[in-house]
Amino acid sequence: MIRKLLLFSAVASAFILPQASLAKSRCIECHEKVTPGIVKQFLSGKMGKAGVDCSACHGSEHMTSTDYKKAKFPTPDTCKKCHPVQVQQFRAGKHDLGWIAFNAMPMVTHQPRAIVGPGYKGCSGCHKIGRKPPEVMAHYRYGNAQCDACHTRHKFSVEEARSPRACSNCHMGFDHPQWEMYESSKHGIIWDIDGRKPNGRAPTCQFCHMPEGTHNVVTPWGFLALRIPTKENVLALIKVAPQLEKQLRSLAAKLPSGHYIDLDDDPQWTFDRAVILQGIGVLDENLQPTERLAVVLKARVVRGPEEFNKLRMAMKKRCYTCHSKPYIDSQFRAADEVVKAADHEFAKAILTVKKLYDDGILKKPKGWKYAPDILHFYDSPSELDQKLYLIFLEYRQRAFQGAFHISNDYMHWYGWAPLKETVVEIQQKAKELRELHQLEEKE
Ligand code: HEC
Ligand code: HEC
Ligand code: HEC
Ligand code: HEC
Ligand code: HEC
Ligand code: HEC
Ligand code: HEC
Ligand code: HEC
Repeated sequence: MIRKLLLFSAVASAFILPQASLAKSRCIECHEKVTPGIVKQFLSGKMGKAGVDCSACHGSEHMTSTDYKKAKFPTPDTCKKCHPVQVQQFRAGKHDLGWIAFNAMPMVTHQPRAIVGPGYKGCSGCHKIGRKPPEVMAHYRYGNAQCDACHTRHKFSVEEARSPRACSNCHMGFDHPQWEMYESSKHGIIWDIDGRKPNGRAPTCQFCHMPEGTHNVVTPWGFLALRIPTKENVLALIKVAPQLEKQLRSLAAKLPSGHYIDLDDDPQWTFDRAVILQGIGVLDENLQPTERLAVVLKARVVRGPEEFNKLRMAMKKRCYTCHSKPYIDSQFRAADEVVKAADHEFAKAILTVKKLYDDGILKKPKGWKYAPDILHFYDSPSELDQKLYLIFLEYRQRAFQGAFHISNDYMHWYGWAPLKETVVEIQQKAKELRELHQLEEKE
């Protein structure tokens, strides 16, 4: 109702053609010849049918066949005039941060423009769902609309956005194959067999992640299944590692207090997580936060206990609509255990490589502040760092994401199995390098 009222507000109606006259705008008249496909698609959608004009999103400064450079392109602020609720929700969610997050990766600065720039062929093609800082946006004529990620132009359809396939061009592949995992889970299979209905017997991505159509997407564990260690987590570690007391007390003083529901606070897990944070250069040699922490917090890559618990409860409530509480609780515990097991293996691998750097067997590459530094991804000169990157972004991701999306094949054969295999390879290779190093020392 509120939305309907807003649509008839003075701002909005300025862009809507008077229904009574049904006059074709000059834009449509000419574009029926120039780009007939666009006009047809637009008029087949609800906005076209409601009489919204092309000028609502592109302005009216361009009116001839030659001055089309004057046409403007929309951002969510353009849509906000008529859809304030969705824009507000979207801005509060993680999609809006997609651009900032990808540009925060140190390796992005070393890639050619063709890979990360305005052609939208790789990282930028998926991450354009996020908002660009104004000074960056000025260099990108196209691709600032964000909302068209799920409601593609020019139909801007709700029906399209309700299908899991609308997410699948981005949520797929190497480090986040949610689409493939969903497709190979009973949920996705039932959705398919039962005629791909948005509110059928099995849940869609949207049912779980955009409840009641809320545009604010965010999950408890997040993309990387990292979370902020609590004060209590870190202090408990002192009992197990008293030699680190000074560093741990200093770290604990900077952390939030609290408790993560569902998760066990085994100090070994806290230790493994600290090693992983060192591996990505967020904690330094002395376990103190580095300058990277600010970026991690700005892009909201990790959550603290308060936010985690709230999101976890909300997600479980979605599951309770179709399953029993104890059943679901056991499912979440089981998936959390996968994160824990994967973290332990990953930490072992990081420590093995770190020891090689500490002992001078591997040399820190020029310009690197930390070593190993997994955030250099595929640009790392060492074979062992390359393997750490694969564990981090491919195997560990698949193991934990597969567990939550109930795809046993992804969890095990594409996740856990290559993870374990790679850890063994790293240990073996490290042993060889160490032996070789000792031989060279003797000579
Ligand atoms: C007299 C014909 C004509 C009229 C009137 C017209 N356009 Fe265009 N428009 C064009 C042509 C020609 C192009 C270039 C398209 C091409 O070469 O494929 C264009 C391009 C565009 C583009 C793409 C620009 C780009 O850089 O990619 C947009 C957006 C656009 N028009 C919107 C509008 C809107 C909105 C109106 C009404 C306010 C309008 N047009 C009126 C002929 C027209
Ligand atoms: C001038 C007002 C106006 C602007 C600006 C506007 N819209 Fe709309 N939008 C409407 C109207 C009117 C409807 C039809 C509502 C209805 O029929 O219930 C609508 C409907 C929609 C729908 C629902 C379509 C469906 O299949 O039910 C989507 C999605 C949508 N708009 C997306 C957008 C996006 C994205 C933008 C910005 C790029 C945008 N709108 C800008 C007025 C506007
Ligand atoms: C154009 C690409 C694109 C499409 C389409 C897309 N997403 Fe995303 N999604 C992203 C990117 C990029 C991020 C990471 C944003 C960030 O956190 O910086 C993301 C993040 C998310 C997150 C947050 C994960 C976290 O860190 O907590 C959820 C949940 C999500 N998307 C669900 C969906 C769903 C459901 C759909 C379909 C209805 C969808 N997305 C469609 C690109 C896309
Ligand atoms: C196929 C589309 C796609 C490509 C290509 C892509 N990403 Fe992403 N990226 C996503 C999606 C989707 C997410 C969110 C996945 C999730 O939460 O599981 C994401 C998440 C991220 C995140 C984590 C955001 C957060 O807050 O958790 C970072 C950082 C990131 N991507 C960087 C990059 C970089 C750098 C590149 C290029 C080297 C890249 N991405 C290429 C789709 C893509
Ligand atoms: C609700 C907003 C909205 C309305 C209304 C709208 N467009 Fe667009 N238009 C977009 C978006 C979003 C893009 C993609 C822009 C980008 O890549 O940044 C786009 C892109 C375009 C392009 C260039 C890209 C391409 O695919 O060729 C043309 C031409 C265009 N629109 C013409 C029109 C015409 C003609 C109308 C009216 C029939 C119209 N638009 C109505 C939002 C809108
Ligand atoms: C990640 C995919 C995704 C993105 C991005 C997205 N939407 Fe949506 N949108 C949806 C889904 C799914 C629905 C259907 C919700 C429902 O009713 O179940 C929807 C519904 C809508 C509706 C119809 C609401 C109604 O009650 O009929 C409007 C309007 C809309 N979106 C506008 C926007 C605007 C504006 C943006 C950009 C700020 C945007 N959407 C970005 C997925 C998306
Ligand atoms: C049955 C509900 C459900 C469905 C259906 C579902 N997800 Fe998820 N999704 C989850 C749960 C549960 C998590 C992990 C929550 C947590 O962090 O505790 C999750 C996590 C995510 C994340 C964060 C990274 C990760 O994978 O753990 C993204 C992104 C995501 N889902 C996208 C999608 C997309 C896209 C689809 C559809 C192709 C989808 N999900 C289908 C429940 C669902
Ligand atoms: C809209 C209803 C619905 C929702 C919501 C839902 N499920 Fe399901 N789920 C089903 C149906 C139907 C099946 C198939 C019948 C069965 O095995 O119980 C299923 C099956 C499962 C299975 C068994 C899969 C297998 O391969 O044996 C698990 C585990 C599961 N769901 C977990 C979850 C979790 C976790 C959530 C929330 C994140 C969730 N479900 C949300 C409907 C739902």
